[in-house]
Amino acid sequence: MTSGIQTAAYVFASILFILSLGGLSSIASSKRGVLYGILGMMVAIAATVFGGNVEGHIYIILAMVTASFIGIVLARRVKMESMPQLVAILHSFVGLSAVLVGIGSYLNIGVEELTATEKTIHLIEIFIGVFIGAITFTGSIVAWGKLEGKISSKSLLFKGRHLLNIFLVIVCIILGVFFVRSESDFGLNYLVAMTLIAGLIGYFLVMAIGGADMPVVVSMLNSYSGWAASSAGFMLGNDLLIITGALVGSSGAILSIIMCKAMNRSFVSVILGGFGTVPSSSETSVIEGEITSLNHEEVSELLKDAKTIVVVPGYGMAVAKAQFPIYDMVQELQKSGKTVRFAIHPVAGRLPGHMNVLLAEANVPYDIVMEMDEINDDMSSTDVVMVIGANDIVNPGAEDDPNSPIYGMPVIKAWKAEQVIIMKRSMSAGYAGVENPLFYKSNTQMLYGDAKESVDKLLGFLKSN
Ligand code: TAP
Repeated sequence: MTSGIQTAAYVFASILFILSLGGLSSIASSKRGVLYGILGMMVAIAATVFGGNVEGHIYIILAMVTASFIGIVLARRVKMESMPQLVAILHSFVGLSAVLVGIGSYLNIGVEELTATEKTIHLIEIFIGVFIGAITFTGSIVAWGKLEGKISSKSLLFKGRHLLNIFLVIVCIILGVFFVRSESDFGLNYLVAMTLIAGLIGYFLVMAIGGADMPVVVSMLNSYSGWAASSAGFMLGNDLLIITGALVGSSGAILSIIMCKAMNRSFVSVILGGFGTVPSSSETSVIEGEITSLNHEEVSELLKDAKTIVVVPGYGMAVAKAQFPIYDMVQELQKSGKTVRFAIHPVAGRLPGHMNVLLAEANVPYDIVMEMDEINDDMSSTDVVMVIGANDIVNPGAEDDPNSPIYGMPVIKAWKAEQVIIMKRSMSAGYAGVENPLFYKSNTQMLYGDAKESVDKLLGFLKSN
């Protein structure tokens, strides 16, 4: 392939990536967005592999076929609710590859052929690329561990951790100066030492984040992985990788800012690993009230008497795969003239847009799916709110308990409704690991059981007369 054709293919792939991001901005066009992304990536890979200066095609193709096979098997096996873990571990691969590309690039004899200035610029590119890659690698592994439950979702906080992080960054900068100035292969020692320290920084940054704030961390690591890929593009002199990495880096950063706003967190604090911190008193306020519960028949009677109903789905709906019977139940209620809508919290479930995707899968019309901000004001005029497999996103402690780890996060104000039904299996806490005072309120009733089984039973009672 001539370099002209390769450049044209790179431009075409870049346009497809931009169209892909545009398509992903709404549920209706998201499938088209994914297709553009796949096509763009195919063009990009073909143009790179069959472009100039590439040898050993047979090995590359063998590696690609094997890796694609592993990728397809893993992606097909992964459960919907485990997607964030998959995303986190994939981010770690991008980080690790930036580290390996950097080290490989340094060991490449091509460095010796550069002029003094070119060599300095190239070494700085390598150093920064490896630094971002190492932070992304360990940070993503910790994020995976927290999401998978292998590492406690509580934030690891200790006195002086910010100072320690600053100190480690300063040590990295000093190592960078030695690295750029080093004349012999000794520079590799500085590079490896910095890689280990940057890995430690990534570990501390993500370990400091508390459970409920993990969504922002995942999108922040998404952004870091984009910048790591972009820096690998600089090291390899590959324009397409620079552009693609920058697209991922900037869109991830924009998503992080949007999520920070949705969760009332400071973006600067997030990228410095300083948010999600438990306030010094660390004790949440004592909860007053009693837990009361209803059975399925009683809840169905309550629903029959209601005129306006709001369904608040959460992570438990995804686990139970209850979206299909829930929509059947909603249609049954609509048949008897009730107004039924869904209230979606921006971080309900375990990945951005999780609930929207599941409800779309069950063919729930978009016009009855409301964002939290659109529906919160209507809660006080709602007869029944059904909280199905959700917990943190309806926790009033986020509004009125300054000692709560989720204090300040906007939540769906379910407690303002006339009646609240909480459908879950037990009294166990949500992802943030905090008690929920909503369950103790006088207008709240628990309906215990798996979300899907409970909805099936409710549907049976609703249809019975
Ligand atoms: P959670 O606070 O995690 O609560 C889910 C509840 O569902 C649990 O209390 C659990 O109680 C119940 N549940 C689990 N399986 C169930 C089943 N089969 N049937 C019925 N109930 C079931 O979920 P949420 O309210 O959606 O809040 C999301 C949380 O995850 C937030 O803290 C958020 O910050 C965090 N997070 C979100 C994301 C994104 S991007 N959305 C990413 C990472 C973390 P039982 O065990 O008693 O049934």
